Amino acid sequence: MKPIPDDTVKQLEQEAAAARSRAYAPYSHFAVGAALLGENGTVYTGCNIENASYPAGNCAERTAVFKAVSEGCRHFRAIAVAGGPEGTDRLTLCTPCGICRQVLREFAGPDFPVWFSDGNGGFRRMTLSQLLPESFGPDSLT
Ligand code: THU
Repeated sequence: MKPIPDDTVKQLEQEAAAARSRAYAPYSHFAVGAALLGENGTVYTGCNIENASYPAGNCAERTAVFKAVSEGCRHFRAIAVAGGPEGTDRLTLCTPCGICRQVLREFAGPDFPVWFSDGNGGFRRMTLSQLLPESFGPDSLT
């Protein structure tokens, strides 16, 4: 997989942070934004969208993936995730939840890079296989 240029990573981090402003998080008050880069060059953003019936809420990452797939993009180069207390610019450690890791796994390979806010003013990079080792994916059914 081609490395992602630094300025593209920076753009994804900024778009993820900006997408937080659209989070609907009246229960947790934790606002998350995601920016997913498609192989087609389009950046799909997402935010968390909570629900009065708590399990019906959706994470920012899955919002971004579902937007992209529903618009015809199924191949991705990278994702950035930014999370922190609602109403602030403070980003805390925000690794993707287990369900989002599995949803990313459906459409991305082991080397897929995930950048997430590290709680120290920056972003940390991990690959999907580091976040979800020994994963069950589409190939597992063949
Ligand atoms: N959340 C995300 O959107 N992405 C993550 O990576 C971690 C958690 C959301 C789910 C819920 O709306 C809120 O953050 C608190 O868990």
